[in-house]
Amino acid sequence: MEPATASPETAPKTAKRAGIPAKGIESLEAETRVESVPVSGELPVWLTGSLIRTGPAKWEVGDQSMNHWFDGFAMLHRFGIADGKVSYANRFLQTKAYRAAKEKGEIVYSEFATDPCRSLFGRVFSIFNPKLSDNANVNLTKLGERYITMTETPIPVEFDAETLETVGVPYEPPGLLTTAHPHMERADGGMLNYAAKVGPRNSYRFFHIAPDSDEPNVTATLPVRHPAYMHSFGLTERHYVLAEFPYVVDPIKIPLSGRPYIENYEWQPERGTKFTLIDRKTGEATGPFKGDAYFGFHHINSYEDEDGTVVADICVFDDAMIVQDLYLERLREGKRISEPEVRRFRIDPKAGTVTSERLVEKGFDLPRINYMRCSERPYRYVWGVGTGESGWLDEIVKADLSDRSTKVWAKPGHFPGEPVFVARPDAEDEDDGVLLSVVLDEAKGSSYMLVLDARDLSELARAEAPHHIPFGFHGQFARA
Ligand SMILES: [Fe+2]
Repeated sequence: MEPATASPETAPKTAKRAGIPAKGIESLEAETRVESVPVSGELPVWLTGSLIRTGPAKWEVGDQSMNHWFDGFAMLHRFGIADGKVSYANRFLQTKAYRAAKEKGEIVYSEFATDPCRSLFGRVFSIFNPKLSDNANVNLTKLGERYITMTETPIPVEFDAETLETVGVPYEPPGLLTTAHPHMERADGGMLNYAAKVGPRNSYRFFHIAPDSDEPNVTATLPVRHPAYMHSFGLTERHYVLAEFPYVVDPIKIPLSGRPYIENYEWQPERGTKFTLIDRKTGEATGPFKGDAYFGFHHINSYEDEDGTVVADICVFDDAMIVQDLYLERLREGKRISEPEVRRFRIDPKAGTVTSERLVEKGFDLPRINYMRCSERPYRYVWGVGTGESGWLDEIVKADLSDRSTKVWAKPGHFPGEPVFVARPDAEDEDDGVLLSVVLDEAKGSSYMLVLDARDLSELARAEAPHHIPFGFHGQFARA
């Protein structure tokens, strides 16, 4: 990793502050609804629907502050696209965590890296009677006709995709920790995910929820002594692919540790990264197979090769420092964040081996693919955001895995978020469509929705939000 700043002796007086632009983690209090925002360029005529995103938007309650980028109260943002016009609306999710904080004037529920419960008695009490957070600021999905926004700790929240009104809790995950990156069950359009059951005995529990159901159906259970922090998992036509990075927790120690959730995890690289393949039909586990130690948030895609090898592409880091990098205090100091790389792991169950290689020279994270067409299958293209000159996420990258080439969209002072791929209806090519990304214009102090041609990353249009949108994580395009 490059140094955060040059030393005082060598730093030129005009040195620009590195890292995240301050506006990206400035709380946004205002909730707005604008029927038509300024649009420049040409929106594709076929593009009708809405880009809905979730993310943290408020990190302070009274004189208290959350600790980490991931902790902020969830806000939904919606860019509605129809007839060449774009509307914009944003609303806080009316969660238990948000409402309790508003009513009491203090942080009440534990978040990823913020624990309001300071006393030992309080902590032991809260572990046995956990106030599970429903601050669903990570990702959203559509399950049947319902729109659901999700977090890891672990309660999901249903909302109205038109009004952004909070509806309620659609289901309860079968564990204390889950992922906000479910997969789609192609057979019925339902949801596949896992939750970690934590207690005297721990296990990863894979579950399926049918499109019209509110009952998770546990289809596989994998006992584990030291659960790993896993933000997502892979899916092939036959298997769930679990990559247990060596960032692990001993749940027995949590009640007495006095630390918030993520600070109970330890980096133990000697464990390596353990891959386990779980048969989707039978629940039978194969593995674990040990590979080199990495840490990562996002699986990109997985599939079975003809020879039975499982290919798992993941955005990884050399270690778990990225979790530390994203504490608000460090971000505000203007430190560069760790740089991700895109790595392909090959898991050979017959030989019991895991090999890996860097797929493209330029690293990126927050990956998106043409999911409906390519998930669980061999594929060619992936888009994401990379860390360029600023030391924060400042470029949209497209990788062509057939020749390992990359293309980049970047503009100094502009900071794009996750590029959501939307396929053109009746498209033949995998990359025929657009990318939608919310970009912060640092000089202007406000954000816009950028529309790029997904093939060559040329700019097609942009739609200006009436204010800045704090940096969030994930979103989806809801077709009209
Ligand atoms: Fe994520």
